[in-house]
Amino acid sequence: MARKISFINYKGGVGKTSLIVNTAAALAKMGKRVLLFDFDTQSNASIWLLKLDRWNKINATGEGAIYSIFDPGRGQVKDLVVKDVVEGKSGEKLLPGLDLVPTTFNLVDLENEYTGDPKRPPYLVFQEQLATIEANYDFILFDCPPNILRASQCGVFASNEIYVPANPDALSLIGFTLLVEKLQKFHQLSASFRRTSMGAPAQVHGIVFNSIKTGVDIEVPKMRMQLRLNQFKTAKRAAPGAKIFDTQIRDAMVVRRAVALGLPVALVSAEAADAGPTGDNVITDYRKLANELVAHVQG
Ligand SMILES: Nc1ncnc2c1ncn2[C@@H]1O[C@H](COP(=O)(O)OP(=O)(O)OP(=O)(O)O)[C@@H](O)[C@H]1O
Ligand SMILES: [Mg+2]
Repeated sequence: MARKISFINYKGGVGKTSLIVNTAAALAKMGKRVLLFDFDTQSNASIWLLKLDRWNKINATGEGAIYSIFDPGRGQVKDLVVKDVVEGKSGEKLLPGLDLVPTTFNLVDLENEYTGDPKRPPYLVFQEQLATIEANYDFILFDCPPNILRASQCGVFASNEIYVPANPDALSLIGFTLLVEKLQKFHQLSASFRRTSMGAPAQVHGIVFNSIKTGVDIEVPKMRMQLRLNQFKTAKRAAPGAKIFDTQIRDAMVVRRAVALGLPVALVSAEAADAGPTGDNVITDYRKLANELVAHVQG
């Protein structure tokens, strides 16, 4: 069964999209079958992986974008999958195994204009359609905006695990705290729509520190985060096995550059990745993170 995972934090700009895209790429490189959903109307992950030309075509009509399953409602998740999404200049497949369901800017209408059938909230419509293709994948990942509004709810409802990207600052800790509160509320609201076959509602299973500058000591923010996580675990508001990941992702120029190149960092040349004194680099960080995620299977 596919592991279904949302990356989310109520704090914006902490690196959710960078982490999820690069971790998805690392998992695909390990031979895992990975499907990434972009649930952020900013479309960062979609523009990054499709590059602007291919994304523009979808944005022009909305056809092929996730919102088409809600409005006009003819789209089917299974038909929206862009197989092996990462392509080179002449259309060659560069990363087999990484598929994407893209979004365009029209996803914002899900939060406002969309009315739909109140007995069938968007997250239920989405979950039912996702169920028809889940068996094709080892990992299904949801990139969410920093909130649990309707678009994020689709990812959260379908997920069984949540990972929280964080920077070593107070705002990330506040964002994590708020996330856990909002999660609780959403699970209560959506409880009557859950089926046993979906497994447990998603709780936080891990925290990943991102964008860590060389020489910066993050012990204090890490300790504060650990204390908060322990409180949530005691209150049964985080998964019993939830932890701060040993792997942390360093701050590296190449992460920003990779977006402009339309490639996950793992496909940018290793020389561009500014190897550290021991020869490791940010690509190694993402690979380690992917391995740690694969191993982190307990509740
Ligand atoms: N490890 C890193 N090293 C250097 N830059 C990074 C790193 N991780 C993320 N960034 C940069 O930080 C910025 C924010 O990252 P990203 O878009 O992934 O955050 P986000 O949490 O998804 O933001 P949003 O809340 O808007 O969705 C981007 O410019 C990204 O390239
Ligand atoms: Mg993002």
